[in-house]
Amino acid sequence: AYEKTYVMLKPGVLQRRLTGIILQRLEEKGLTLAALKLMVIPREIAERHYAEHSQRPFFPDLISYTTSGPVVAMVVCGENAIARVRALAGPTRIEEAPPGTIRGDFAAVTRKNVIHTSDCSESARREIELFFSPGEILEYEDPN
Ligand code: CMP
Repeated sequence: AYEKTYVMLKPGVLQRRLTGIILQRLEEKGLTLAALKLMVIPREIAERHYAEHSQRPFFPDLISYTTSGPVVAMVVCGENAIARVRALAGPTRIEEAPPGTIRGDFAAVTRKNVIHTSDCSESARREIELFFSPGEILEYEDPN
């Protein structure tokens, strides 16, 4: 199915000037940007975004890291975009992320694993709505 997914380049990526190379990996596989902005995430939004992890021991750390600097927030679209972006990102745990994946190539610790991507269509819908207003998102047919 033609899908939209929420993708976020985490704090540090912008400062490390990795934004371009990561966007290139998505674009060269035929995925398309439908929205893109730089923002510092307010604590309350970060807590809602990661609500499913609220009982985990790493939650406080996750929130302070996520709000610690600017992120690149985007909506990425394409055929099966959710699974394809996840495949390009690689596994959450960096020990498991192979070379050739975004995390495998650019992340050194799991807490700072470079990129967040929605894990299913329901979270994609929820996360896109949390970070973007409808007017910020382009609607187009698959250009491929
Ligand atoms: P993300 O895909 O953004 O979703 C939840 C995040 O929690 C995950 O990426 C990691 O950055 C972080 N995370 C997951 N497991 C751990 C862990 N064991 N310790 C610290 N952070 C974690």
